[in-house]
Amino acid sequence: MHPLSTASATSFLFTLLLFFHLTASFPSNGASNLSNCNQNFSCGDLTNITYPFTGGLRPSHCGPPEFHLGCSDNLMTTTLTVNSRPYRVTQVNQTSQTLRLSLLGLYDDSPCIYPFNTTTFDNSSFSLVPDHSTLSLFYGCKNLDDADMANFKFSCPSPAYSEGFFMIGDPVPGPPSMEKCQTSFQVPFLRSGAQQLRDKGSSLLVEVLKEGFDVSYRNPYSADCQKCYKHSGGQCGFDGKPICICNDQLCHGK
Ligand SMILES: *[C@@H]1O[C@H](CO)[C@@H](O)[C@H](O)[C@H]1NC(C)=O
Ligand SMILES: *[C@@H]1O[C@H](CO)[C@@H](O)[C@H](O)[C@H]1NC(C)=O
Ligand SMILES: *[C@@H]1O[C@H](CO)[C@@H](O)[C@H](O)[C@H]1NC(C)=O
Ligand SMILES: *[C@@H]1O[C@H](CO)[C@@H](O)[C@H](O)[C@H]1NC(C)=O
Ligand SMILES: *[C@@H]1O[C@H](CO)[C@@H](O)[C@H](O)[C@H]1NC(C)=O
Ligand SMILES: *[C@@H]1O[C@H](CO)[C@@H](O)[C@H](O)[C@H]1NC(C)=O
Repeated sequence: MHPLSTASATSFLFTLLLFFHLTASFPSNGASNLSNCNQNFSCGDLTNITYPFTGGLRPSHCGPPEFHLGCSDNLMTTTLTVNSRPYRVTQVNQTSQTLRLSLLGLYDDSPCIYPFNTTTFDNSSFSLVPDHSTLSLFYGCKNLDDADMANFKFSCPSPAYSEGFFMIGDPVPGPPSMEKCQTSFQVPFLRSGAQQLRDKGSSLLVEVLKEGFDVSYRNPYSADCQKCYKHSGGQCGFDGKPICICNDQLCHGK
């Protein structure tokens, strides 16, 4: 490449980075341009999502950080990170305050998501709905010969984890086959799918995993937000603590 164009490309990139840096740090600089909280989040099939969620056109000052949504895969896939683990979000109901989530990494029609961790929601903002079932998945099994579970076996392309099986429910102590496997994890699924999965076995496994599970969410600052709407007619936001935004600035008298 021509040295001059390399140099100017570098300085252009530098300027661009500086620009983004300045733009990105502007709201937290104590400057009071708290704009765009009237915008909604939309991504793929999910549209018109509002407070407490942020992401997309809704800047991060428009809600608490745990409600930040991502939008990836050519703006088709909504993601949410809970306890450092990313999930795909396929449904949002802001009336019932529930989300439908599924594991990321499943969308190649294979249940082979190697050593994943058991899905837990111990973060107080998100909790599994009580009406769910649990799947236990086992990977890297050797010499699975139990005829009873032939229907529940699957195979994976990875040599280290080539054979696997699943059971419905938490693992119960006893089944000898479990000791033949290297690793396992549990993931919730919709209870309505349990009977079909029991009947059809592993041919339905990926579908059930993709369908995911429901969690309810609780915004710890919803009372503050109600006050903001009522007393100031403002928009709720968040900057280390709940804030109330009027005309892109902090509302006065609060
Ligand atoms: C706030 O920022 C937005 C986007 O960065 C800009 O369009 C708008 O003019 C700004 N408003 C004020 C009052 O500075
Ligand atoms: C955002 O969505 C709400 C309802 O969910 C709607 O009332 C509002 O008009 C929408 N705002 C925009 C900018 O689309
Ligand atoms: C979002 O809400 C606005 C205002 O209610 C409405 O006009 C628009 O059609 C909605 N968009 C979608 C995709 O539902
Ligand atoms: C929940 O997660 C968010 C962000 O992921 C974090 O800021 C918050 O402290 C967590 N809350 C609890 C109770 O662990
Ligand atoms: C959202 O939840 C409300 C209240 O539970 C329910 O009436 C409504 O049908 C749900 N909306 C969708 C699209 O499922
Ligand atoms: C599972 O948890 C361990 C320990 O917390 C972590 O190092 C690992 O990256 C996690 N694996 C996945 C796939 O999230």
